[in-house]
Amino acid sequence: MPVHHSPCTNIIFAPMEKEVVLSGIRPTGFLHLGNYFGAMRNYVRMQDDYNCYFFVANWHSLTTHPDTRELQSSVHRVIAENIACGLDPEKVSLYIQSDVPEIAELYLYLNMLAYKGELEKTVTFKEKVRLQPENVNAGLLTYPVLMASDILIHRALKVPVGKDQEQHLEMARNFAERFNYRYGEVFPMPYAFNFGGDLVRIMGLDGNGKMSKSENQLATLYLADDDESIRKKIMKAKTDQGPAEPNAVKPDYIENLFTLMRLVSGPDTVKKFEDDFNASSSGNCVIRYGDMKKQLAEDMAGFIKPIREKAADIQNNKELLGRIIRQGADKARASASETLKLVRQAVGMNY
Ligand code: TRP
Repeated sequence: MPVHHSPCTNIIFAPMEKEVVLSGIRPTGFLHLGNYFGAMRNYVRMQDDYNCYFFVANWHSLTTHPDTRELQSSVHRVIAENIACGLDPEKVSLYIQSDVPEIAELYLYLNMLAYKGELEKTVTFKEKVRLQPENVNAGLLTYPVLMASDILIHRALKVPVGKDQEQHLEMARNFAERFNYRYGEVFPMPYAFNFGGDLVRIMGLDGNGKMSKSENQLATLYLADDDESIRKKIMKAKTDQGPAEPNAVKPDYIENLFTLMRLVSGPDTVKKFEDDFNASSSGNCVIRYGDMKKQLAEDMAGFIKPIREKAADIQNNKELLGRIIRQGADKARASASETLKLVRQAVGMNY
């Protein structure tokens, strides 16, 4: 076939490389509405614009939960729930940490660059020492090193995490910088990414703090809850006698009910209860929290049901689940082994 040389053939239109995003999910406990609106929904929104890696941190869970009897089903559930929430295994790499042994090797190199003193000063470490004084293991101490390895193995730039993980990100940058300085530039600096104004915080239904994967179960709406539990929990949510004057400031537990309603109910429904709240006047409370909760319970049950059912279908389909897990691992290992090659070269471990 004749080859036509036009001046344009020299120009290579390299597709813009998408930025690498990575986040990890601990498989301890059930995923809940706070996880959905605070994290998973945002993962789904990022999957077209970024090169995304999301993984289940099952090695990390050994630092606090050495008993692994329930771990396997938790890991499967987390994978299934993330897919049910809209992550597309064709677009992202959704994988299990222990399927990528390259992370463990990077952890070994980074451990040589992490100092006992700085690890002991980590806020999460001190907290865990307080919570489990009988099991202060070396994995707990080096948790931030393993987390840095998770991130650096894909040379990720953006790490969607909550505020409580920012110190770990700072440590990851320190380890990366030390590695680059000693052995040569391999790692870009990763930063926490928290979606700015898009981040929705959801409180527990009892008005005490956040929803939780393992504590506070009656005040937390789980993605695996059935319709009846959802109704029961919402009908028990904390309220009061209602506002004493028109346009009152909402107490935070009432604001939380409105937040939930804005997320799962139609705008007309929200407006009706907003108007009822604001029209309240002394001795004449128009809003009826019982009615509001009944409506919210219906809309919430309707919202969670398709997620719960899809997640259950995936969990019950071992063949499909297995395929998703292998596909995620293959993609993650391809990227991880490329980084590890650079790391071995830099350190001089390439014989
Ligand atoms: N430490 C995170 C948490 O407790 C989970 C996690 C492990 C993670 N490795 C990570 C998060 C890497 C982001 C990037 O929630």
